[in-house]
Amino acid sequence: MTAPLDLRSDTVTRPTAAMRRAMAEAEVGDDVLQDDPTTKRFEAAVAERLGKERALFFPSGTMANQAALWVLGAPGTEVYVDAEAHIVHSEVAATAALCGMQVRPVKPVGLVMRAADLEAFVRTPSADAPEASVVCVENTHNGAGGVVSSLDELRAIRTVADRLGLPVHLDGARLWNAAARSGTALEAFAATADTVMVSFSKGLGAPIGACLAGSAEAIRRARIARKRFGGGMRQSGVITAAAHHALEHHLARIADDHAAARQLASVVDGVAGARVVPPDTNIVMIDLPAPRAAEVQARALALGVRIGVWTASRVRAVTHLDAPADRVAEAAPRIAQAIEATFAG
Ligand SMILES: Cc1ncc(COP(=O)(O)O)c(C=O)c1O
Repeated sequence: MTAPLDLRSDTVTRPTAAMRRAMAEAEVGDDVLQDDPTTKRFEAAVAERLGKERALFFPSGTMANQAALWVLGAPGTEVYVDAEAHIVHSEVAATAALCGMQVRPVKPVGLVMRAADLEAFVRTPSADAPEASVVCVENTHNGAGGVVSSLDELRAIRTVADRLGLPVHLDGARLWNAAARSGTALEAFAATADTVMVSFSKGLGAPIGACLAGSAEAIRRARIARKRFGGGMRQSGVITAAAHHALEHHLARIADDHAAARQLASVVDGVAGARVVPPDTNIVMIDLPAPRAAEVQARALALGVRIGVWTASRVRAVTHLDAPADRVAEAAPRIAQAIEATFAG
């Protein structure tokens, strides 16, 4: 029997044979001593693609996001950030624990935080009110369903941040997807922020890692944060070789994941009252008519498809490198069947 198709996340991919070869053949050195040639080459290539002075490799996007907040912000202040952002819900309160800052969740009127939403949450200065030190944006927005914010929208947020005198961090774990979908250059998106995080272990299919890019001074300080957070790595070329391979070979195919996600959405939307957030990119959020996500998940698994529970009434399916279009096309009616069986009668 074929193994279930795993659509829980785009992080479930396995390194390809060519990627493993690149890892095995990587020339390495001690990266804490800034002596790993493969990692240095990779960081320079990432900085160039993002149009920033420097980039620094991190073991995870979470660590890179928190390092950015540590660099840009200050203890005892707050971060303006979309209420459904990864930083708010999925980084185990690291902003409080590691950076000494609190998040100010900005509740958007639409799916994701826009400039007007940010403006509405700016505090009136007073003797009691916390000061803000950073604005954070997420593109694509995972929790909203892989939603792309346009360049104009990010520029408008930047304008508000400039007026407030605040730096901007862009959580671009899936900036690749935003660029592929919108046709906007990575560099143009990155130019709207002081620091940008990009991940290699999602749509690009590398096993590990993210980069933080920014000015030479921001990255000098990010290196301190990385070491302090326990992320100093020695022969990291073994893993940056995989990320570099992913960047060079898997970026061009990312639009295939978007097409597969749209196909899946078209099959599932409306089944037994379920509503799909129309996918901009590779994330398909399915809102169920009642909080029975765990049952739908279990039924889908019995039919050979793994999907994720996002909330009690929302399941998530994500397309990726190891989910070819024909297998996603087979999986879609099975997810529909799982929903139907859950809500029948
Ligand atoms: C938007 C976003 N930011 C940050 C991260 C964190 O990345 P990591 O899992 O590498 O810590 C994720 C992970 O899914 C994400 O979706």
